Amino acid sequence: MTTTQIRTEHVQQSRLATVDFNDLPFGKIFSDHMFVSDYRDGEWTDDRIVPFGHLTMHPASMVLHYGQAIFEGMKASKHEDGTPLLLRPEEHAKRLNHSARRMMMAEYPEDRFVEAITQLVALDKDWIPPAAGSALYLRPYMYATDEFIGVRPSQTYRFCIFTAPVGPYYAKPVRLKVEQHYIRAVPGGTGEAKAAGNYAGSLRAVHEANEQGFDQVLWMGGPDMKEIQEVGTMNVFFVIDGEVVTPETDGAILKGITRKMFIQILKDKGIPVSERVITIDEVVRASEAGTLQEIFGAGTAAVVSHVSELQYGDQLLRVPPVEERKIGPMLKQHIDGLRVGRVADTHGWLVRV
Ligand SMILES: Cc1ncc(COP(=O)(O)O)c(C=O)c1O
Repeated sequence: MTTTQIRTEHVQQSRLATVDFNDLPFGKIFSDHMFVSDYRDGEWTDDRIVPFGHLTMHPASMVLHYGQAIFEGMKASKHEDGTPLLLRPEEHAKRLNHSARRMMMAEYPEDRFVEAITQLVALDKDWIPPAAGSALYLRPYMYATDEFIGVRPSQTYRFCIFTAPVGPYYAKPVRLKVEQHYIRAVPGGTGEAKAAGNYAGSLRAVHEANEQGFDQVLWMGGPDMKEIQEVGTMNVFFVIDGEVVTPETDGAILKGITRKMFIQILKDKGIPVSERVITIDEVVRASEAGTLQEIFGAGTAAVVSHVSELQYGDQLLRVPPVEERKIGPMLKQHIDGLRVGRVADTHGWLVRV
């Protein structure tokens, strides 16, 4: 155990009374405290929980120039008995460090990551909104802080976690454009890291898709841009003739924690599921044969995001209406149920705070 003492400085006056839990815009309201730790001389020091506030930055901070910045996204919920719950925090700790290794950044000890999240959520537990589907969104992130101009890994970093109450995510079914020009990631690139630059690099494609009337893009890869990767910032699942298929991870696809749980839940229920290459041609053929039953995105924020239509060049593929779908809604209900203790935690995924 490498846990060190976390120093805590409490806010003088909580802002909680000023927040309307029935009207929570996503990502704009932040709770009272945040966690901060600094890496210098080869170790993480001064772990602290302090009042939420601005961070100062040197103009030559390396993150601003060479982009060493990574993050995680997770949620704390409340059990029906009132206990705060975390879902697989250790998986997020591991993925942060996977991202850190790829971006030549310092790794943060995984047990300290879970401890920091636990203490922060315990302190701001009243910020977890009570309504079904609501949560306290947690944002761990790390960035390079060397005050230096020149391309090399920074030798100092800051690791922070802040939290934000979010309401239920009513994702309406989305219309997708099969992206044939822009590329999110390739094997050997940085797609498997939650690196900030990946998201900046995706914005132009999504903007152009929006201008053309689509909600999101379906990212493609492979030698002829036919292999399906992800949908927007979610992993993608297809149900074709009773089989659930998701692209196998190949170094370009982010290894989603929701994706991993979905595969396990499907296996537990005896529903056929495979991780393999899936091409757009296979999806077109399934659509023509009437065997394309569902397409949905999987991720922490919305859990499941149903896809209603897919535009591939001049071909429009329609997916059956959400009311006729079984797999996506079942998976969402399962995760939402786990988060409030209504579904049995058979794999020990929940951590009580
Ligand atoms: C690019 C990308 N793919 C997939 C996901 C889904 O991952 P998770 O289920 O861990 O939230 C995310 C969100 O973290 C993402 O940013």
